Amino acid sequence: LGLSSYHSFHLSSCCESLIAFENVEQLRAALNNASRYYLLGEGSNTLFVEDFAGTVLVNKIKGISSTTTETAVHLQVGAGENWHKLVTYALENGYHGMENLALIPGSVGACPIQNIGAYGIEVADFIESVECINLATFETQQLTHEQCQFGYRDSIFKHSLAGKVVITQVNFKLPTNYTPVTTYGELAALNNPGPQDIYDEVIRVRQKKLPDPAVLGNAGSFFKNPIIGLGQYEQLLNIHPGLPAYKVDDHRMKVPAAWLIDKLGFKGKTLGEVRCHPTQPLVLTNLGNACGEEVLQMARQIISSVKQRFAIELEPEVRLIAKHGLTTL
Ligand code: EPU
Repeated sequence: LGLSSYHSFHLSSCCESLIAFENVEQLRAALNNASRYYLLGEGSNTLFVEDFAGTVLVNKIKGISSTTTETAVHLQVGAGENWHKLVTYALENGYHGMENLALIPGSVGACPIQNIGAYGIEVADFIESVECINLATFETQQLTHEQCQFGYRDSIFKHSLAGKVVITQVNFKLPTNYTPVTTYGELAALNNPGPQDIYDEVIRVRQKKLPDPAVLGNAGSFFKNPIIGLGQYEQLLNIHPGLPAYKVDDHRMKVPAAWLIDKLGFKGKTLGEVRCHPTQPLVLTNLGNACGEEVLQMARQIISSVKQRFAIELEPEVRLIAKHGLTTL
């Protein structure tokens, strides 16, 4: 079965079978019948770089409910809901804070895994708990915010719980006294913006810079922004005075991978049917008929050039799925 329409990079890889589930019972039944499986939401951060020798399980668990207290709104959201739809629903109902994360492609169930973030905010800021099915026991399990061990594009779901649970529901908490975050780049230019203004501006900026996956296959940022030691940052700054960076803590700086890749002249470069996006080189795109091998080659070329020139090791932000599951570059 072709997976092109099930992931936003639209590679033409196949899987043995595909089962969509709408509730926990259907998920349990599907798991019972599959020996190797990969769990998918909307496929906006996954690339099937080879045919996958197993079953793809697509999470379609829907539903949004809310409870309100004096200080916060609590939202209980099915993992198969669309992320941007949730942001829009929250805004329309007067539940504010998540506007900075508008238009991020993907599902609600995927958002805690890599702790999606944009324009000064991470989804972890609003996650109260995450509900999962434990794949060993088939029991429901709830992880508190702390137990999720959120970090930059990181969580426990990428480490000790990787492949061990299926996220079925995410519970959010939006404080009623929330003040909009306008520190990041283009948002800083807004004059006393309300939540609707932030939402509109984020959508405008994203649409200007980032290719629409429905038109040009892509999976957003292909690499994470690397975090380097202060010493290395200072050395690099001597050689490259324009190098931008954000402070992580007293010892570490985060450097935009886009800047490094741009400096190396990759913008607009193609390898077969894969192109490094001209307005945001951190994004690789599928010109139409890209194959997994071309994606891997392009990614490896970028990694090795960045390493050679800046002594920085880029890591993929996307998940790469090969014949037997998750793979590395
Ligand atoms: N830059 C260049 N050349 C370019 C584009 C950017 O040098 O052509 C440099 C500039 O210095 C710019 C900096 O890179 O200031 C940062 O660029 P941008 O604001 O576009 O953000 P980013 O660091 O490349 C991150 C996230 C995005 C998120 C934006 C906005 C990661 C890996 N990516 O990108 O998330 O939308 O910030 O907050 O952290 C994603 O994860 O898929 C994603 C798109």
